[in-house]
Formats: sequence, C-alpha cells, structure tokens
Amino acid sequence: MRVLVGPDVPLGELYAAPSEPWLRLNMVATVDGAATGTDETSRSINNEPDQEVFRLLRAQAEVIVVGAGTLRVEGYSRNRLPIVAVSRSGSVPPTLRDSEPGQVLLATRSQAPGLAEARDLLGDEHVLVLGSHRVDLARLREALVERGFRRILCEGGPHLLRDLLDEGVVDEVCVTTVPRITAGLHPRISNGPPVDVPLRLHTLLEQEGTLLARWLVERT
Ligand SMILES: NC(=O)c1ccc[n+]([C@@H]2O[C@H](COP(=O)([O-])OP(=O)(O)OC[C@H]3O[C@@H](n4cnc5c(N)ncnc54)[C@H](OP(=O)(O)O)[C@@H]3O)[C@@H](O)[C@H]2O)c1
Repeated sequence: MRVLVGPDVPLGELYAAPSEPWLRLNMVATVDGAATGTDETSRSINNEPDQEVFRLLRAQAEVIVVGAGTLRVEGYSRNRLPIVAVSRSGSVPPTLRDSEPGQVLLATRSQAPGLAEARDLLGDEHVLVLGSHRVDLARLREALVERGFRRILCEGGPHLLRDLLDEGVVDEVCVTTVPRITAGLHPRISNGPPVDVPLRLHTLLEQEGTLLARWLVERT
C-alpha cells in the first residue's frame, strides 16, 4: 500500500493504537457514500485492500463491538475474538446463539424484552445491563475496559457508529473508500439524528484507487 499521509512504516505500526484504552471504528463506503451495496450488506462493496486492513484491525483488537442490526444482516459467526452485540431489544443475533460461553456478550438495558432469554442463552455474567431505557455506551466502554479489553474495535453499523460518536467514547474512525459509485438508497456509514464530530486525518493509504484513512476524533 502507498502511504499518502503518514510515516512510511509497516502497516501494523501505522495502525498501532497510540494509547490504551482505545476505541476504534472501522467502516467501508463507496465514493458516493454508500455503506452497503446491491446485497444490502458491506460485502458487496468491500475489496481486497479493505479486507487487508479489516483483518489487521481485528488482529490488533481484543474485542469486537457490533450493533445487533449488523449482526443480523451480515450473519456474523464466531470469531477468535469475543463479540459484544449491542441491542436495545436484548435479542441475541441468531448466528451467535450457540457460541461458547464468553465468546458472545450482549450490551443491553434492563427494560429489554429479550433480557431473560439472553441471560439463558449467554449466561448472566455475559449480559451487560447498562441502563434502563437506553444502553449507556460510555458505561459499555468502561465495562469492557474493566474486563480487560483495552483495544476495542467496533465494526458498525451506522446507527451504533453515530451513537458512539454522539456519546464521545470514540478515539478513532477508520474509513475505507472504494473506487465505485452505486447511487440507490443505501445508508451512509453513520445514521440517526445529527452529530458534528471534528476529525483529524492521521493516515491515508492508497491501493489501486482504494483510499484507507485513519481519522482521530478531536477532543474539544
Ligand atoms: N459499510 C460498512 O462498513 C458497514 C458496517 C456495518 C454494517 N453495515 C451495514 O449497515 C446496515 C445496518 O445498519 P444499522 O444502522 O441498522 O446497523 P446497526 O447500528 O448495527 O443496527 C441497529 C440495531 O443495533 C442495535 N443498536 C444500534 N445502536 C444502538 C444503541 N445506541 N443502543 C442500543 N442498541 C443499538 C439495535 O438493535 P436491536 O434492534 O436489537 O435493539 C438497533 O436496532 C447493514 O446493511 C449492514 O450490512 C455496513
């Protein structure tokens, strides 16, 4: 990969977290801002350079946080890393229901309709109740750090990304821009009520027209 902005060092060093705990988001989009392609998932827009960084970010992480909507649509399966599903409804995504104990955690709220079933499926200690009406995402970050997860990777989706930014718990946003335009009615990488989060470009890489950026969240 060609480094356009940033030091010319190996990829692993280029993406190293500057401090811990560190919460990083990773998303892919088309040039016209679509977060999904024809199959309504990101699989139809990502490409090899994106996959390379996607794998690297997973290799550098200790836990993956994902919105329940993305887990349902993208059909996540078990992973080397524990997966934290964030869900207001408290429903454990179908493809993660028979995971090994501790491989899947659920972050939810006390009024979630699916809370009792989630506790049955995952075990009490793997269900994080972080509020009554809403899931407090600042508490989620703290709870993960308390469990020893200091390098946290969130793989979306757009609603969760927006809410994490709104709650001020994000350190970094990695965005791959793939060289295609798709039009159509696709979500952007962030979705929900307006937020305005200033970012500073840390790194920009290019491979075959794909742009891979690391943006750091500016603390105000
Ligand atoms: N381009 C990319 O890099 C990328 C990455 C990820 C996903 N995607 C795509 O994005 C689409 C899904 O979009 P989405 O915005 O619906 O994804 P999402 O944020 O993963 O899913 C929304 C659902 O996640 C839970 N959730 C999200 N934010 C929450 C919060 N603050 N508190 C509690 N629960 C929360 C809720 O689950 P419950 O309904 O269970 O309460 C909510 O209905 C899919 O098509 C997926 O393929 C693209």
